[in-house]
Amino acid sequence: MAAVGYEKADFWAQKAKKDGYPARSVYKLMELDKKFKLIKANARILDIGAAPGSWSLWVLERLDGKGFLAAVDLQPLRIDTARDNLFFVQGDLYDPSVKEAIAAHGPYDLVISDAAPGTSGNKGLDTDRSEAIVEAVLDYASEFLRPGGHVVAKLFIGGGQREILDRIKKEYDTARAFKPESCRSESFETYVLGLAKKRP
Ligand SMILES: C[S@@+](CC[C@H](N)C(=O)[O-])C[C@H]1O[C@@H](n2cnc3c(N)ncnc32)[C@H](O)[C@@H]1O
Repeated sequence: MAAVGYEKADFWAQKAKKDGYPARSVYKLMELDKKFKLIKANARILDIGAAPGSWSLWVLERLDGKGFLAAVDLQPLRIDTARDNLFFVQGDLYDPSVKEAIAAHGPYDLVISDAAPGTSGNKGLDTDRSEAIVEAVLDYASEFLRPGGHVVAKLFIGGGQREILDRIKKEYDTARAFKPESCRSESFETYVLGLAKKRP
């Protein structure tokens, strides 16, 4: 018999297929947006770790031809990218030339990151890599997010969550961690959020 978490996972994966999104993760962003009101009309948004593209597709639908989305991933997007208000760069978020390309399209009103390392089976290593990605996403937000803007990033829960939230508290009015219902119940991922970036 399948574990309850995987039955739920199958439900979200099938729903994504039916709704025309390339990944089940879209429902996590919908929940995050419903709770924290992240996506505003006409916003400039940066999506880090965007492939295969369900978050990007939903954001573009929400922007409805207005605003702008920049997206980055090691992998290609599997959505229609022929849109005037989309810039996609395929590359490593740690690569300075990728950062430069992203900077050229900023500043942004919102930074969203679902980026996650490939899992190795070694939980300590995976959480360390995830924490490093979140720190890099927070660096992007420090540099390219407008004051008042929000950041949200996926984090594999390990020892470093407190330190990350402490950093967010220094840079944003509000620091939160939130695990959407549509996350696999057995997964050790959560999302950290910085709401309302402080002025430097
Ligand atoms: C869970 S998937 C994102 C799913 C996406 N939000 C969606 O809705 O389709 C995580 C992504 O992070 C990307 N990623 C991991 N490390 C990265 C890095 N260093 N630079 C860019 N992308 C990275 C992976 O290639 C992968 O596509």
